Amino acid sequence: MVIEKEVDLSVKLLITGGCGFIGSNFIRHILKSYPTYKVYNLDKLTYSGNPDNLKDIENNPNYIFIKMDICDIQDFPLDPPDWIVNFAAESHVDRSIRDSSPFIKSNYLGVQKLLDYAVQHDCKFFQISTDEVYGEVLDGFADENSLLKPSSPYSASKAGADLLVQAYGRTYGLKYIISRSTNNFGPYQYPEKLIPLAITNLLENKKVPIYGKGDQIRNWIFVEDNCKAIDLLLHEGKFGEIYNIGSLYDDVTNYELIKFIIENMALDYEYFIEFVPDRPGHDRRYAVDCKKITELGFEIKDNLETNLNKTINWYINNEWWWKKLKLREDDK
Ligand SMILES: NC(=O)c1ccc[n+]([C@@H]2O[C@H](COP(=O)([O-])OP(=O)(O)OC[C@H]3O[C@@H](n4cnc5c(N)ncnc54)[C@H](O)[C@@H]3O)[C@@H](O)[C@H]2O)c1
Repeated sequence: MVIEKEVDLSVKLLITGGCGFIGSNFIRHILKSYPTYKVYNLDKLTYSGNPDNLKDIENNPNYIFIKMDICDIQDFPLDPPDWIVNFAAESHVDRSIRDSSPFIKSNYLGVQKLLDYAVQHDCKFFQISTDEVYGEVLDGFADENSLLKPSSPYSASKAGADLLVQAYGRTYGLKYIISRSTNNFGPYQYPEKLIPLAITNLLENKKVPIYGKGDQIRNWIFVEDNCKAIDLLLHEGKFGEIYNIGSLYDDVTNYELIKFIIENMALDYEYFIEFVPDRPGHDRRYAVDCKKITELGFEIKDNLETNLNKTINWYINNEWWWKKLKLREDDK
């Protein structure tokens, strides 16, 4: 008998926070790209965890949803996975300024529980981190060896988790990879975040709030590109390494970004922009050096304008998805 190619039917991924924005896009990407992989989605379903995000794949035989807090991972009811890919987190900076407790609990202590589980069951570990751990980068670019200087309780909780992952690598021999991506945008992003807030406000004929003068500089990556980058790292990345992920587009200010969205929705930007007082500790500029992941072959197909227009169209066509989330926010 000749076995031409050994196909591994047994890759089991435990994806935490898979009902959130990036996690749900990543699960869809994996199930489409690897029809033999098993995906367990473990999610606590906080305000931003939404089963509607995966309505189209919920009956896929390779997909299992488990409603659970990562802090309780020791009670995980299925066989241990090969990989844990940790998206679960409290993710909104403004909320972390109002109350940092849930951020420390999920983003730091929750990661510690996942790491203990991974060591005990010999799982590989992928930590989804953020470029915000580098803090404000006024000149040049932060590479993977730059100092961590987080500015908000959110980014501090993520930076703490990154250090913990590295320590588990050194102390217990955990096989890990950390990715630090820039701001994501695209379908299924909770409408409290800048881009979906802008698009959905405009669809409701409301103004778009911009902090300060809107001169904060950001690099935006389309969520599907980030998912492809994480997939690449999962399969080709080197254990014990950190990889920045950015869009390779030119950086834009929040003002330029919102102006583009308003104009592309055929509205008058001068009327629809509303300047509001800046938030404390607001970083002026984020900028990461992405040479390391491009050396693995990472590239991006479409530019920012094309992906923003795709995103605008998605929100126009999926009012069923965002309308009820906005009503919930308005009720508060
Ligand atoms: N959105 C971005 O622009 C961006 C950029 C860089 C990095 N990240 C990171 O990517 C990850 C995902 O971000 P997102 O924008 O999809 O966030 P999100 O808020 O949309 O989703 C977070 C998900 O995690 C779940 N969750 C939270 N705490 C949990 C817990 N204790 N146990 C189990 N599930 C829990 C929520 O229910 C939700 O489904 C986060 O770790 C975030 O720090 C996000």
